[in-house]
Amino acid sequence: MANVHICTDKNVLFSQAADLFVKLANEAITSRGRFCVALSGGSTPRGVHTLLASEAYRQTVAWQKVYCFWGDERCVAPTHKDSNYRMADETLLSQVPIPQENVHRIRAERDPAEAANCYEQTLRQVFGVHTGTQPQFDLVFLGMGADGHTASLFPGTPALHAEDHLVTAHFVEKLDAWRVTLTAAMINNSAYIAFLVAGEDKAATLKAVVEGDGQPEQYPSQLIQPTHGRLLWLVDQAAAGQLSL
Ligand code: 6PG
Repeated sequence: MANVHICTDKNVLFSQAADLFVKLANEAITSRGRFCVALSGGSTPRGVHTLLASEAYRQTVAWQKVYCFWGDERCVAPTHKDSNYRMADETLLSQVPIPQENVHRIRAERDPAEAANCYEQTLRQVFGVHTGTQPQFDLVFLGMGADGHTASLFPGTPALHAEDHLVTAHFVEKLDAWRVTLTAAMINNSAYIAFLVAGEDKAATLKAVVEGDGQPEQYPSQLIQPTHGRLLWLVDQAAAGQLSL
């Protein structure tokens, strides 16, 4: 049974996610000297980032020991309105004292395959792991689309089966756009994975994903099953409206 925490509204979801970030960051920094987090794209994380950048939260994290990555990126310039990096930079990274060298964006303005390869090399280098072993994020934030995708793992796409890589690039027909994304295998190696899902438009899909039969081709969010870490679904009441919990 999935670990689903239903929040009364979006703002409660944002604060629960921000509290989780702070808790895991402090635990990781205390025990291993750094906190490696992969941020999600989309709109839901904006509220979490804004909280983390606020007076109430900003001082509670040793930002100089935070290492920031992304779960996926649109193949656009980092200044483009659709860039996940730009969203995180505007709402969080430009507001906190995180060293620039700790921010590892996906250079998706490049050729997609080259961007995926470059990001994979960066992951191996920063985490100090070689081929055959996978880096382990302390925390990965994920969103879920109304079609059941997560990161840029879209239904029926080859990215769902790119198990022998940490990162893959693919053309998403339905978007008519290229995307670069962590693979499910890479995400599943994380110590803690938290989905952030809000809104009534997600309710039917959330029920199918967490309570329905396993259909990962149709609902790629079902691929997210941590091999040894923890999985939490932070959802608001609107998104949880069809759950039988
Ligand atoms: C992206 C995200 C994507 C997102 C979902 C949910 O690059 O768009 O990685 O997986 O998390 O589409 O997006 P919302 O939070 O906007 O609903």
